[in-house]
Amino acid sequence: MIRVAVVGASGRMGLCLIKAAELAEKTTLSAAISRSASGKDAGDLAGIGTLDISISDALEKVLDQFDVLIDFTRPEPSMDYIELCRKAGKKIVIGTTGYTDAQKMQIAAAAKDIAIVIAPNMSVGVNVCFKLLKDMAKTLGDGFDVEIVELHHNKKKDSPSGTAVRMGEIVADALDRDYNQVANYHREGMCGERTSEEIGMQTVRGGDIVGEHTVYFIGMGERIELTHRAMSRDMFARGAVRAAGWLGGKKAGLYDMQDVLGLK
Ligand SMILES: NC(=O)c1ccc[n+]([C@@H]2O[C@H](COP(=O)([O-])OP(=O)(O)OC[C@H]3O[C@@H](n4cnc5c(N)ncnc54)[C@H](OP(=O)(O)O)[C@@H]3O)[C@@H](O)[C@H]2O)c1
Repeated sequence: MIRVAVVGASGRMGLCLIKAAELAEKTTLSAAISRSASGKDAGDLAGIGTLDISISDALEKVLDQFDVLIDFTRPEPSMDYIELCRKAGKKIVIGTTGYTDAQKMQIAAAAKDIAIVIAPNMSVGVNVCFKLLKDMAKTLGDGFDVEIVELHHNKKKDSPSGTAVRMGEIVADALDRDYNQVANYHREGMCGERTSEEIGMQTVRGGDIVGEHTVYFIGMGERIELTHRAMSRDMFARGAVRAAGWLGGKKAGLYDMQDVLGLK
């Protein structure tokens, strides 16, 4: 059994992760960390009955109690958790999104010492979409305009979503473009005609939408739309826990869900 700890235990994803880690076959929840729910029982907090796991207020205090940490929090605290795991030789699954390029480089550096799975979207379906997108972009080529639209709940902090950015990067790579040069996040007023290279990135925020992503390939006289709709957060949590089970036997390195699912 892989012993899993969850940081940000009281968050929307934290609660799903407690449940998923406890219910999965290869893993068991052994620790939970929260700023706002310390002292409570992790199982009671997640609504799955008492687990006799008292939530800690600091990762430092439970470093000897787990094999793999799962982090779905915010970039800033996450960087501290990654550093603590690196020093303690602990593996980590990172679902947090919104890192800066500098933070991404620090994560890659930490992966020289410990095994890390990082993915902006842990859903199996989205990762299959990533694979399909590469093939679609390569086959359709430059004759199709690409636009990406994502929808999320009104509490989401970062825009566009990490998943939408990853989709844009995959399409840009497949078309030999530099995503940072061709991503267009803003159209307003007399902004001119669309260039053939740009990838439009649009966001919609509202209500309780868990997450929807559509990539449009728009050609002359035809249009292809690849859409993924997330109905609940539980499948992200199941994907993260699957990654934790997979990571248990891995050496230091930077992995993603394509590695976990054997899609590479
Ligand atoms: N990769 C994926 O598949 C995937 C799927 C869904 C969401 N996400 C990402 O996961 C992250 C969390 O999403 P969420 O919807 O669960 O957010 P959330 O409900 O706001 O929960 C985040 C939790 O992180 C902890 N936290 C926040 N700020 C902190 C700070 N400054 N220091 C320490 N802890 C802090 C808090 O937990 P405590 O108070 O308990 O410490 C908070 O409840 C976001 O980046 C989101 O984009 C990724």
